[in-house]
Amino acid sequence: MKARREIKVFKDKISLSKFAADKVTEIARKSVETRNIFHLVLSGGGTPTTLYEMLTKAPYLTNFPWNRSHFYWGDERSVAPGGEGSNFGQASKILLSKVPVPRYNIHRIKGELTPEQAVDDYQVQLLAHAEQGMNWPVFDVVLLGMGADGHTASLFPGQSSSDDLKQAIIPVTADYAGRPAQRLSLTPAVINSARYVIFLVMGADKSVSVASSIEGDHDPLNKPSQRIQPVSGRILWLLDEAAAGNLSGL
Ligand code: 6PG
Repeated sequence: MKARREIKVFKDKISLSKFAADKVTEIARKSVETRNIFHLVLSGGGTPTTLYEMLTKAPYLTNFPWNRSHFYWGDERSVAPGGEGSNFGQASKILLSKVPVPRYNIHRIKGELTPEQAVDDYQVQLLAHAEQGMNWPVFDVVLLGMGADGHTASLFPGQSSSDDLKQAIIPVTADYAGRPAQRLSLTPAVINSARYVIFLVMGADKSVSVASSIEGDHDPLNKPSQRIQPVSGRILWLLDEAAAGNLSGL
């Protein structure tokens, strides 16, 4: 069965990010009301930076349940946490260092370790917060970006085996836009157990991949975002007009 999917198109980065900030805050509050905890997976890349900045200001700074929220990453590059290209470093600098989140609620992928050590370390961290009978938490929200080549998190076209894996995190080597090639990524199995997956995608360079992924034929090997099909959760695509430019069905 296909996951419930919704697509929204925005004029610019500010309106898209504002919608995302409202949505994530609303889900966070509901999660805390219902389960007394909120598990959020952050993404890397440049697209979510405005969202992260917004969350540090009114009204989100006071409305967001920071002390009941846990932060994870969908992928990380194999670099030092403070180093150039670290997804943790970016989120820490513009978001997490500016909000009252307890330090022990931040669960980073340790890019400074060898890939094998980082995998083992993150599986242990995920297990510590796992849903009963699972090896990882049921994430309330997973934020994802998408590259012009169609990759999402660090699941790249042509690298398929991760679909079948029951393991939570895998090492990946892939070149993209001059970014660090050695990476670690959550697997589709983990992302697909989430309650909500939100793609944030902006820019004309993504428009062909967006249309092909959403409206094109089913080819999850070459279109990694098609591997994202939450079992009982929802998918929300937040696009700017440029990224949505090749969609015909809107
Ligand atoms: C990463 C990512 C990756 C990113 C896309 C889009 O660490 O590289 O998490 O999947 O979201 O490459 O990147 P931009 O937002 O910079 O276009």
